[in-house]
Amino acid sequence: MARVTVSLPGSPYPVMIGAGALTELPALLEHLEATAVAVMTDRTVESLWAATIRERLEAAGLATALWAMEPGEGAKSLGGLERALAFLEQAGIDRGGVVLALGGGTVGDLAGFAAAVWLRGVRWLGVPTTLLAMVDSSVGGKTGINTALTKNAVGAFWQPSAVLADLDLLRTLPEPDYLAAFGEVVKYAVAMDAGLAEILERDASALARRALAALEPVIARCVELKAGVVAVDEREGGRRALLNYGHTVGHALEAASGWRAAHGRAVALGMQAEARIALGLGLCRPGLTRRQTALLTAFGLPGPLPDVDVGAVLAAVPRDKKRRGGIVRWVMPRELGQAEVGWEVPEEVVAEAVGEVLSASSLGTLPG
Ligand code: GLY
Repeated sequence: MARVTVSLPGSPYPVMIGAGALTELPALLEHLEATAVAVMTDRTVESLWAATIRERLEAAGLATALWAMEPGEGAKSLGGLERALAFLEQAGIDRGGVVLALGGGTVGDLAGFAAAVWLRGVRWLGVPTTLLAMVDSSVGGKTGINTALTKNAVGAFWQPSAVLADLDLLRTLPEPDYLAAFGEVVKYAVAMDAGLAEILERDASALARRALAALEPVIARCVELKAGVVAVDEREGGRRALLNYGHTVGHALEAASGWRAAHGRAVALGMQAEARIALGLGLCRPGLTRRQTALLTAFGLPGPLPDVDVGAVLAAVPRDKKRRGGIVRWVMPRELGQAEVGWEVPEEVVAEAVGEVLSASSLGTLPG
């Protein structure tokens, strides 16, 4: 089992990574002196893992309530928040209670935000069930919901008390979701860690087969990289924006697809576009874009994406959260393992790169 600490001043917390990490749950809840636990999950995960979680909580002798939302991003709405808060009220969660988010990013974002606002803030634990949530959204305390127009528009930075990333839970994750998550893993490698890129190149086939001995150190490395950034820049004033490499175009693609594009695949295509922009501006060498493409291809990325209109993607770019004073601040790769925040890119350069990568990927598009 690997253990990474997110060293936030005043509220450090552990991320436990490994097969069987859930066995730590009773001891963790005892340490937190939890008086009750409210489990939030979705219906898919409920059918797979709710019984296991209940067993662990019963072993801890805790009063437990469980609420399962509809699966999918639609739950991250004001209506979903209202239902989540009604659940916490009915479950009698007071300041001694703990919210347990059992699921992927959608569950974590909504459950974490409900915990942030319920009674002005109660504690929560993350138990991610997807690879994407293990390497990204379960760590760092970004919680929130969407408005009709904007993803994650309403939210709070509210750190969990601990994260248990139990690799056994990945057994039930569908293959396309598992592989798409490597979009985020490759992002860490290209933007922050050349050593991780070498490990991915060496172990790609074992990782694609979900060999746990190869997977555990890779997840732990991603969590370490994220924890290092979050510890110095929790509120994304600067360095945390590095994590958004590939996301300026990726997020626009997701929006233009009506949120049908898998996040990891959209980020993979976003990285291809953004590396092409960097190459065109003379900020990186062709060797970097080639190596990035090979890393993505090893995991079948970007792979099939919903058919989207280039104009719709470009129109969605200025909505990006990374804007300051109306200017998009791009994250540009410079060398393998090293990206920089804060570049301005002319619109026509963006248009050309997005057009090129979309037409190159159009052979693999899903019907729109
Ligand atoms: N997913 C990017 C971040 O947490 O900052």
